[in-house]
Amino acid sequence: MERKEFLGKLGGGIGLTCVACMMNACSKEETTTPTTPTTPALLTVNLSTQITAVGDYVSDKGIIVVRTAAGNVAASFIAFNNECPHRGNAVTFVKTNNTFNCSLHGSNFNADGTLKNGPATTGLIKKNLQVTGTTLSVVS
Ligand code: FES
Repeated sequence: MERKEFLGKLGGGIGLTCVACMMNACSKEETTTPTTPTTPALLTVNLSTQITAVGDYVSDKGIIVVRTAAGNVAASFIAFNNECPHRGNAVTFVKTNNTFNCSLHGSNFNADGTLKNGPATTGLIKKNLQVTGTTLSVVS
């Protein structure tokens, strides 16, 4: 075999090898399942033991969660940041009149978090929650 013929065959072989490598690389399937990153819950409530009756609430980690209806579904609960929008004092839920009260300067908020009486000028900051089975998670 002459040199020119040898190089011609060698070049063709490399080309076929490279094409085969690229085809192989493109045809590989992902063997791992992509996962969606999950953000840890800000607060978790066990609904089999906590806030089981309408009007029950928990206040923890700067969040107040109130049960507003029966059933373990998200629509049966409401959650707020417990900071009073006036000056940041922690508000408390008063089950007997279904309001959130701030003891520092006397602001009151309705059960839906809207402002009832100042000096605060805005309502409470609502939080987002999810319910899965008997676990309530405040997620944001
Ligand atoms: S901090 Fe709540 S009323 Fe002032």
